[in-house]
Amino acid sequence: MVQNSNVQKQFATRAKTYNQSANWITSPDLIAAHLELAGPPNGKGIELCCGTGVNGKALTAAGWNITGVDLTMEMLGEVNDVFPVIQGDVIALPFEDNSFDMAILRQALFLFDSLAGLKEIRRVLKKEGTFIISQTVPFSHADEPWLKHIHEVKQAQLLNFYNATDIERLLISAGFNVNEMKMLAVRESITHWMKYAPEQSEEMQRKICDLVANAPEEYKQARNVKVVNGEVFEDWNWVIFKAD
Ligand SMILES: C[S@@+](CC[C@H](N)C(=O)[O-])C[C@H]1O[C@@H](n2cnc3c(N)ncnc32)[C@H](O)[C@@H]1O
Repeated sequence: MVQNSNVQKQFATRAKTYNQSANWITSPDLIAAHLELAGPPNGKGIELCCGTGVNGKALTAAGWNITGVDLTMEMLGEVNDVFPVIQGDVIALPFEDNSFDMAILRQALFLFDSLAGLKEIRRVLKKEGTFIISQTVPFSHADEPWLKHIHEVKQAQLLNFYNATDIERLLISAGFNVNEMKMLAVRESITHWMKYAPEQSEEMQRKICDLVANAPEEYKQARNVKVVNGEVFEDWNWVIFKAD
């Protein structure tokens, strides 16, 4: 049995309500950017750390032949057999070299040994295959230090914190050529996000909202932080790389 009990525990408790926990998860703009960068359906694709399979479902509907891999069985259950899934670890994938035409990884790079995982993805991807990696990053140096602080407070499982340049460097170190990069802002309610984080105590949920609401001015400006009737909103910055 594949195990990383902390990650599995966190995502098992939130699997059922995961898709409603933040706007980015089902954001049509973000999914459209992934589909555009993946290009016309062209064979076998793999969604790494697929979770509930939001991207894999959209790619399947577009005509890709998708397989999903994730550590957490409860998250995989939410894929509902729309595409085949296996429980597995991204740093030790049970596939031959050069198996896939396309690979996609969204919002998981901070949860495992990133370089080892990216090298493993490069290994199972065909030489001319396309890799889409999508991740929240700071907008600039203005919001970076406080965002890192918030992530460290909130996410006990956080192994790494990256900006867009760090991710580009990691991709190159893992043997990828970076072909394209897109940035996209998605507006989030931090209050809502925290309500859907059952692994956090109520005290921690309040603390995270306060850290955003009372952030340094440069952070608030970069992320357009607003408090409306007690609800805390901000923009999240997504970077999406297309690599091969
Ligand atoms: C934040 S969720 C993202 C899910 C999905 N990629 C999405 O964008 O909706 C992170 C997922 O990564 C999975 N995960 C974390 N570490 C993993 C690893 N080493 N191998 C495979 N899956 C992993 C978790 O179980 C969880 O489902």
